[in-house]
Amino acid sequence: MSEIHLRSPRGWINDPNGFIYYQGKYHLFYQHFPYAPRWGRMHWGHAVSEDLTDWKHLEMALFPSKPADCDGCFSGSAVEKDGRLWLFYTGVRYESPDPENTNCCLNGEFVSSQLSLCSEDGETFDNFGGKRTVIPPIEDPAIGDLRNTRDPKVWKESDGRYYMVLGSTAGEKGRLLFYRSDDLERWEYANSVSAENYGWMWECPDYFRAGDAGVLLFSPMGTEYGNQAVCTFAEFSVGDASMRMGKRFRFLDYGMDLYAPQSTVDAEGRRVVIAWLRMPEAPDGRRIGMFCIPRVCEAENGHIYFRPHPNIRGKLSREIAAPNPAEQVFRLCTSLEENEELCVGGYVIGRKNGRIFADRSAVVNGHTEVLGRSETPPLHDGFAVEAYVDRNIVEVFVNDGEYVITHAVYGLTEEVRAELRAGIHYFAAQ
Ligand code: FRU
Repeated sequence: MSEIHLRSPRGWINDPNGFIYYQGKYHLFYQHFPYAPRWGRMHWGHAVSEDLTDWKHLEMALFPSKPADCDGCFSGSAVEKDGRLWLFYTGVRYESPDPENTNCCLNGEFVSSQLSLCSEDGETFDNFGGKRTVIPPIEDPAIGDLRNTRDPKVWKESDGRYYMVLGSTAGEKGRLLFYRSDDLERWEYANSVSAENYGWMWECPDYFRAGDAGVLLFSPMGTEYGNQAVCTFAEFSVGDASMRMGKRFRFLDYGMDLYAPQSTVDAEGRRVVIAWLRMPEAPDGRRIGMFCIPRVCEAENGHIYFRPHPNIRGKLSREIAAPNPAEQVFRLCTSLEENEELCVGGYVIGRKNGRIFADRSAVVNGHTEVLGRSETPPLHDGFAVEAYVDRNIVEVFVNDGEYVITHAVYGLTEEVRAELRAGIHYFAAQ
């Protein structure tokens, strides 16, 4: 079976980290607990790909080795400078380790610092001699939180300087902190931004330009929808490092399984986003966590699109008559009329009340804590569906990425039912 989705090589994985196109290869690091299929003291796993479709796992990149990160190397990002690869991440030290499982701490009592590690070649990481603390734990509550300040995303701006955005919290509101640096080594606090009524802590912020528009992705915790990744328009001003955020936030993905998206720029200059699929159980009992396919983020007519990356489309381009969802990775394309639906291996995609919905109730192993059925907001301009079906993930792109519904699934069957006016096309790998 051809794998287009990056899966955990062992144990547990969560957020994508340090996603970058560096010296002719895509590097994707990820939050990793290698010893068991559950979250614990974090490491950074590492995979590389030539084309974003086939991934090769490499050695562990980061692991705890210093007082500042002795209990975990939390999420962060990568940036290239003078041919070297710089990683920025959050080092965590537990104040109250859980006596029953010292890989975790009690009551969120841990201290956070921001660290860097510079690699000469993107493959060797000196965990003993190369780590530097660039931002010590924040002691001033007017700036940020000693514990909940994390996930540095670093980028180079038009003024030639480097900026870092961190997720944080203050006064029970989520907050973003901005730092800046001339050389990636010395960082100064520059500014912050927050918003009313949108969760108490903002994780994994990522700011970038998509064409003429500024886009912000982040993962707020504790909203009325729980912890869900969102996107919004935002404008960052280099002069005072301030950010104006749009008033409307919308979900990155309407399946509500994706979290902690991170972006980079691909070899052709496209903005590409990848995110962690939160899975309710390990498919084989041993390895849990995987990523969605890379998506190209584009802003058009006041809307943020997430489109399948052309390399993935290209990989799944051999037209086949009928797929077998129990055994095959494939893509399907169609357009739905009102009240039409199709069923792939027990997973139902349909159109009702002017929206596209996807229902995994029959293929989620009885897990009721995750959403069975998800739908897009009302659609006004077409009902085109392009779905990517793999044995544990289905990704439904509506109107070429106007909205996306992604679900973790288990036990897809061989059955395919689709009697649609527009017909349906299936594509598999060569
Ligand atoms: C998001 C997150 C990040 C943190 C990491 C720890 O899923 O909680 O904020 O850095 O995971 O694994």
